[in-house]
Amino acid sequence: MSQRIFIFDTTLRDGEQVPGCQLTTEEKVVVAKELERLGVDIIEAGFPISSPGDFRSVEEIAKAVTRPTVCALSRAVKGDIDAAGQALKHARQGRIHTGIGASDIHIRNKFGSTREAILEQAISAVKHARSYVDDVEFYAEDAGRADLDFLCRLTEAVISAGATVVNIPDTTGYCLPNEYGDKIRYIYNNVPNVDKATISIHCHNDLGLATANTLAGIANGARQVEVTMNGIGERAGNTSLEEVVMALKVHKELGFETGIDTTRLFPVSRLVSEMMRMPVQANKAIVGRNAFAHSSGIHQDGFLKHSENYEIMNPLDVGVDKSLIVLTARSGRHALKHRLELLGFRYDKPTLDTIYKQFLDMADIRKEVNDKDLMELVR
Ligand code: KIV
Ligand code: ZN
Repeated sequence: MSQRIFIFDTTLRDGEQVPGCQLTTEEKVVVAKELERLGVDIIEAGFPISSPGDFRSVEEIAKAVTRPTVCALSRAVKGDIDAAGQALKHARQGRIHTGIGASDIHIRNKFGSTREAILEQAISAVKHARSYVDDVEFYAEDAGRADLDFLCRLTEAVISAGATVVNIPDTTGYCLPNEYGDKIRYIYNNVPNVDKATISIHCHNDLGLATANTLAGIANGARQVEVTMNGIGERAGNTSLEEVVMALKVHKELGFETGIDTTRLFPVSRLVSEMMRMPVQANKAIVGRNAFAHSSGIHQDGFLKHSENYEIMNPLDVGVDKSLIVLTARSGRHALKHRLELLGFRYDKPTLDTIYKQFLDMADIRKEVNDKDLMELVR
C-alpha cells in the first residue's frame, strides 16, 4: 500500500509574490480551478492582509473551488489572522497558515526578539487562528537555519496550542538534502506530540536543491509538500510541483502516491506560464520544451529503436502528446530516414546517403531543420 503525500500548492501565494507575476482576482480564480482539476489537496490562495485585491482573491477562490482546502497566509499577528479568517468565511474547508521566524538570525535581525517571546507569540497566533477555523498550519520561518532543539520546542508548543500542520520551511534554500532530511527525522524523534499533526515541507531553490530536499523530507516522514507550478517563487523559486509528483510516480518503489492527475501537468504549466508572464526554461524537467526532445544522433538512434532507451517517462503521462526528434547537424541518418518516412518519402541507401550529406550542409546553416526545409531538400 502506498502512503499518500498531500500536495499543498502555493503558486497563487509564494509564486505570485514574484515581481511581474501578479494576477487579477479573475485570473487567480481561473488558475485555482485548474489546480483543483489537477488534483492538488490544498490551494494557498493568498495573503489577505497584504492588499484589498488579495483579500478578494482569497474570498473568490474560497467560493469557486469545492474539493481542495483553501488556505490563507498570515503573520503571527492578530490583524493578519482576522483578515485571513474573514477572507475564508465562504470556504468549504478553510485553513489559516500563520507563523513567525524560528532561526536566531530572524529572531534577532528581523524581530529584535527572543526565543521565549517568539514561542509565546506563536502559541497566541495559533490559538487565535483556531477561533476561526479547525485547520491551522503553523510555519516556522527559516527553519532550515534554526536551532534544532528550539525548533522542536516550537513545534511541540504550536501543536499543543492547536496546530494541525507544522511547516518546516527552508526559507532561504540553504540546506543540503541529507541535512534537511535529518532535521525532519529529528523532529519526528524528539517532539512528543508530533503524531497529532502533519509535518509539512516548504523548500526554496537558492542552491537548486528544492526538489532533492523535498524528497529527503518525504523519506524522513513528512506527509505534506509545499510546491508551485514550474517552481516559480521568491528569488530562485520554490519546489516544482511537477518534479516532486513525477519523481514519486517514476520511483514507485519509494511507496508514495499523490492525488495529482499527471496528464494535466503540461497544460497547467503552460497556463501558469502565460498568465504569470513567466516563460518556462527549455530544459526544465517534465514541462520544458526540450523535456521530451531528442537531438543528438546517438540518442535519436537509440530512442527510435526503443523509447525506453532514452526516456524514463511516457510523455502522454504528463500531458505532452509526443516526443520530438529535433533534426540538427548532430542528427544521424536514422533520424533523417524516420522523419522522411513520416512525411511519406522512402529512399534506398545510396539516395539517402546523398540526401543526408545535403541535409548536414543545410543543418549547419539553419541550425534546426524543420519539415518545410526537408520538403525543400527532397524536391
Ligand atoms: O518560505 C517561507 O518560509 C514562506 C513562509 C511564509 C511559509 O513562504
Ligand atoms: Zn516560501
